[in-house]
Amino acid sequence: MSTHPQANPAFEPIPQFDLSAQYAAIGAEIRTAIERVLSSQQFVLGPEGAALEEEIDALCGVAHGVGVASGTDALILALRACGVQPGDEVLLPTSTFVATGSAVSALGAKPVFADVRPETYNLDPSELERRVTPRTRAIIAVHLYGLAADMDPIVAFAKSRKLPLIEDCAQAFGAVYKGRRTGSFGDAGCISFYPTKNLGAYGDAGMLVTNSSELAARLRALRNHGQTAKYLSSEPGWNSRLDEIQAAILRVKLSKSRE
Ligand SMILES: Cc1ncc(COP(=O)(O)O)c(C=O)c1O
Repeated sequence: MSTHPQANPAFEPIPQFDLSAQYAAIGAEIRTAIERVLSSQQFVLGPEGAALEEEIDALCGVAHGVGVASGTDALILALRACGVQPGDEVLLPTSTFVATGSAVSALGAKPVFADVRPETYNLDPSELERRVTPRTRAIIAVHLYGLAADMDPIVAFAKSRKLPLIEDCAQAFGAVYKGRRTGSFGDAGCISFYPTKNLGAYGDAGMLVTNSSELAARLRALRNHGQTAKYLSSEPGWNSRLDEIQAAILRVKLSKSRE
């Protein structure tokens, strides 16, 4: 007889991820928030998204938050806003979720992998020097498994080479390195609100955080077809607008971290 747990009806499978206890605790507030959006009849880029942007930028200790449709979009938009073009090389760690590399490939650029430290699985800063070439156009530091990467030497390297630094905070939103939150070290921080993340939506959503007003304005345009005013597109962008229902749900969950 097979002893594999799934073959034995006596074993109850333990779900890898189960949010039902959380939903039982906050469901009423979530439903009120969704109802608020439905009553407003404003479904994208509205007051909920704008309020969430302010709450997230305050938490990260940065000047601007720009809500987008996913963490992957946040990475693609950040790379684009930092000037990455087809044929450019982008340094990123070997150990990360596939989206970090595929965001680079999506722009026709080449992901160049730098090794990680075995004790943290985060970027080994000394690897950057080994992998950098004259074609390197940007660096992505990933904060994996809730743990911030060793940012001091990474920031120092990016500055010394005048390379834009993007942080992939998808797995470590809210994590702290030497008293500062992830997302506040580089030119832009990319956050995912995928349902299993530290702060998870009830669908897909993401955000960029940055201290640069210029970058924030460009990202706001890029996420909405390159529009700087209604029907005035100054460059090609695409649709990566933040959904109001997701923003309202995220605000309820975020408020719990302050209670
Ligand atoms: C490290 C990392 N980067 C990027 C992403 C992409 O985020 P999203 O699923 O919101 O597109 C994820 C998670 O899915 C991730 O874990």
